[in-house]
Amino acid sequence: MSRKKFTRIPYDLVGSRETGAVAVVEVPEGLSPSDVARNVMKRHPHVKSVLKKEGAREGDFRIRPFSLIAGSEDTEVIHKEYGYKLKLDPRYVYFSPREATERQFIAEQVKDGEFVLVMFAGVGPYAIAIAKAKKAEVVGIELNPIATRYFQENVLLNKIGYKVFPIEGDVAFVTPALYGHFDRVVMPLPKGAYLFIPYAIRALKKEGGVIHFYYWGGQDAFRRAEGMFQAEAMKIGWGAASTGFRIVSSYSPRIYKIRVDFLIKPTDIK
Ligand SMILES: C[S@@+](CC[C@H](N)C(=O)[O-])C[C@H]1O[C@@H](n2cnc3c(N)ncnc32)[C@H](O)[C@@H]1O
Repeated sequence: MSRKKFTRIPYDLVGSRETGAVAVVEVPEGLSPSDVARNVMKRHPHVKSVLKKEGAREGDFRIRPFSLIAGSEDTEVIHKEYGYKLKLDPRYVYFSPREATERQFIAEQVKDGEFVLVMFAGVGPYAIAIAKAKKAEVVGIELNPIATRYFQENVLLNKIGYKVFPIEGDVAFVTPALYGHFDRVVMPLPKGAYLFIPYAIRALKKEGGVIHFYYWGGQDAFRRAEGMFQAEAMKIGWGAASTGFRIVSSYSPRIYKIRVDFLIKPTDIK
């Protein structure tokens, strides 16, 4: 197998040098999984397991099917980014190391003293990035019990138990008990967050606040997001204006994961 072929194989590393890492690989047609695994392990001696992607993310928990093609059955790792640690097992929870800069961007927007709600919190990367960067209090809601357990452990691991509060449950059931409490809401579920816009708006304080909304689609995705927020805000006599936009990544050549930031106020915003 030529070295040239291997350089084009996409893979992610989750974990760290200290605790070992898991490599998540896509094996192109015609290549042998064990050759690919051997090559990745040779390049990164701290890789203890290699997982091959076996399909797209699926279900409410957004987990991808994998097969273990080399190394240890124990795929739990401690990932490190921007000075915080995240314990997780990529086989049982959603996690993408590629979104570290996106999380950090959100953390930098938060102002000291804010109350922040992270919906769809996973193992806690947004909540922990925010709490590490700012003097903010963060509530995170997550449906997957395994992800919530890691989220709780990660809060302790990063010594921020006094300002991050993980809750296991469905955003639709948990959020109404928290209405009117937050300066900012983060909605990192690109393919489903739009269903929860009414909950996010009502979670804001009575003077309004900021919502970071993740969505997906083609060129019209930004306009559709704006339309949904304006329509929902109007239902309670509020206004919504977009203040930021970013293409986070691409799913296919013309379909993107995007983020739109909204300022939501109890008045009409022009
Ligand atoms: C795209 S992942 C993002 C996870 C995390 N924020 C991150 O960036 O790593 C979406 C997460 O939302 C959770 N989820 C899906 N539907 C949910 C719901 N109705 N209420 C709470 N969490 C939900 C999934 O289990 C999954 O962990």
